[in-house]
Amino acid sequence: MIGRLNHIGVATPSIDESVKMYREMLGATDVTKKWVMPEQGVWVCFVNLPNSQIELIEPYGDNSPLTGFLKTNPKGGQHHVCFEVEDITKARDEMRVKGATVLGTGEPRIGAHGTPVIFVHPKNMGGVLVELMETPKAAH
Ligand code: CO
Repeated sequence: MIGRLNHIGVATPSIDESVKMYREMLGATDVTKKWVMPEQGVWVCFVNLPNSQIELIEPYGDNSPLTGFLKTNPKGGQHHVCFEVEDITKARDEMRVKGATVLGTGEPRIGAHGTPVIFVHPKNMGGVLVELMETPKAAH
């Protein structure tokens, strides 16, 4: 079921500062503009790499899901990994059959790439928060 590694999610208190760091420390040159996803409570920006992406996420609003994470990790840190799947609903159902906890209502939501995503609880994945994302259809 698992497909490509789409991106690594990295939480940060400041996308601007993180972008500066990726540019200065690692020589990143291909970085998207940041934009806000109000329903998800995050600002988002992608650092494009030859084979994948780093998704920088910064809290937006008072009820951001990142607030707790940044309280524990004030400087930010690795937050999740995102794998592509062919069919998000099928993947969600399979994860549940295998006993995994799908976060939130479990209904897929539209993620930063405009395709539906779900999150699987880290307790089921060796401590790693896993995002599953339906492969963009245009890629086929
Ligand atoms: Co993500």
